Amino acid sequence: MCGIVGYTGKRDCIPILIEGLKRLEYRGYDSAGIGYFDKDKLAYIKRKGRVTELESLVEGGKIVSKTGIGHTRWATHGIPNEINAHPHFSKNRDILLIHNGIIENYQALKKILINEGYKFESETDSEVIVHLIDRFIKKGYSFSDSVRHTLIEIEGTYGLAIIYEKEPDKIIAAKKGSPLVIGIGGDENIIASDINALIAHTKQVIYLEDYEIAEITKEGILVRNIHDIPVEKEVIELSMTVEEISKGGYSTFMLKEIFEQPDALTNAMRGRIIVDEGRVKLGGLEGIMDRLYHSERIIISGCGTSWHAGLVGEYMFEQYLRIPTEVEYASEFRYRNPVLSEKDAVIFISQSGETADTLAALKEAKTKGALCLGICNAVGSSIARESHGGVYTHAGPEIGVASTKAFTSQLVVLALITILLARRKELSLTDGRNLLTEFQSIPDKVRKILELNNQIEKIAEDFKNSTNFLYLGRGYNFPVALEGALKLKEISYIHAEGYPAAEMKHGPIALIDENMPVVVIAPKDSTYEKIISNIQEVKARNGKIIAIAIEGDDEIEKIVDYVIRVPDTIRIFMPILTVLPLQLLAYHIAVNKGLNVDQPRNLAKSVTVE
Ligand code: G6P
Repeated sequence: MCGIVGYTGKRDCIPILIEGLKRLEYRGYDSAGIGYFDKDKLAYIKRKGRVTELESLVEGGKIVSKTGIGHTRWATHGIPNEINAHPHFSKNRDILLIHNGIIENYQALKKILINEGYKFESETDSEVIVHLIDRFIKKGYSFSDSVRHTLIEIEGTYGLAIIYEKEPDKIIAAKKGSPLVIGIGGDENIIASDINALIAHTKQVIYLEDYEIAEITKEGILVRNIHDIPVEKEVIELSMTVEEISKGGYSTFMLKEIFEQPDALTNAMRGRIIVDEGRVKLGGLEGIMDRLYHSERIIISGCGTSWHAGLVGEYMFEQYLRIPTEVEYASEFRYRNPVLSEKDAVIFISQSGETADTLAALKEAKTKGALCLGICNAVGSSIARESHGGVYTHAGPEIGVASTKAFTSQLVVLALITILLARRKELSLTDGRNLLTEFQSIPDKVRKILELNNQIEKIAEDFKNSTNFLYLGRGYNFPVALEGALKLKEISYIHAEGYPAAEMKHGPIALIDENMPVVVIAPKDSTYEKIISNIQEVKARNGKIIAIAIEGDDEIEKIVDYVIRVPDTIRIFMPILTVLPLQLLAYHIAVNKGLNVDQPRNLAKSVTVE
């Protein structure tokens, strides 16, 4: 995580860096800093806390510089304080560096450098990089060769931006494992961890790949790899707009993104459904369709909310495709030496397309010969580029740290893949048509559920002082229970657990008393009677029940404390609907507690370290 930005060009870089850091703040917000040229000397300003703290120190043209770098931190090594904030200086204060990633061999390198007389100011792993560069410069290497030789010595991950006093109008950037994109402007160039920070300035970008190093001046960009071989880079034209990454009248990004879901889901379906033929078309899978169809096993992997989407996918695939499906935490999968062959298909789900564990799991699965697919939201992201094929969710940028529209869009894409394959298997034309007709009505049903916002806000008021929550669901709605609990934990800091409803008897029931709210997802499906029994078990122990039930279920309100009603739909689509009240419930409880829902403590949107 951490966000990095850099600018060199004809304009004053300070407001551009500050604006860029604000756009990247979702990646980390423990501290922020900028490095720049104060006439012909290097200087920095850094502060603990948010970018606005930093902004207040540089406002009003107090500092002007044509080249600079900026960083917003998510602490890994060293507590979040001013000293550990980036940039970091070299010994003679003539090199400044910002880093996103983790240097795994930093302790060994630090020891060597200390023995050679280097003094460390911070507790960060990043500081070793700037001293190593300095060491090579002192040996007579050029600035760029010093960076290159340093990168050969370090192990781990990095997105780097470095400026050097003796080469004033240049930024050197490098990448391995952490994302880095370069925006090409007229008489100016910008680098950033992602396109959000540069979209206001240019739509033409170059994605840096692992082991590539770029020398950036306002005149041009020179890319070489770590072996000093020049690399021709493709310039990509972006279609994103600045409006897409602003709050658009909402008080928070999270609320905006919750309310964007009808459009996000429509976008995920657009051009992919042919109702008359009961068929789905996914361009990104065409080249690998036969191999996918013949896969004997499907593994879905991801982290956090994306992992929850994968769990729903497992129900979809096993019900409609009868292909054995497993869901794996990417962090466990990558290190377990998984048993894989070319008969397996592995689907990696990631909103950002940059999560370090998911990306590493993908590389591992590729090494072992499995077919690798990506379901990503960020176009051009590392996971999207590394996969053999894939499907974009097209949910638009998601800035709120707690994932909402990305999750429901992932469910749409999983359903599309299911129906696409099911039609090649046993699903009939009529059944295909019926499924797709219902599928197309989902965005309107979502709209209807969002109209319950005020009702849910009122319910939330009663629970702002709760300290624990239990979420229960069965079948397709078990992963929804996990996701509901995660949303609450992430933004309201209330302890919450999601459980398969029947498992409650094997532990969580011991926790239930009059202070324990229990959210039960209870659509009228084949498990309805069973879930009603689970509700009775909670009521018998004085637990407070909030039920997510379907419209027209008049029985349930006689036994629960609160009912939130969603329209009915086919089982496979139900999680897209039932998760919405849970997103809003978590949102309003957190807002009631006065918390920052977009940037909850300790979390980051894009976890690019393991
Ligand atoms: C972080 C975010 C979560 C997200 C997870 C996986 O923990 O805070 O919202 O679900 O990473 O991210 P990905 O981008 O791979 O979906």
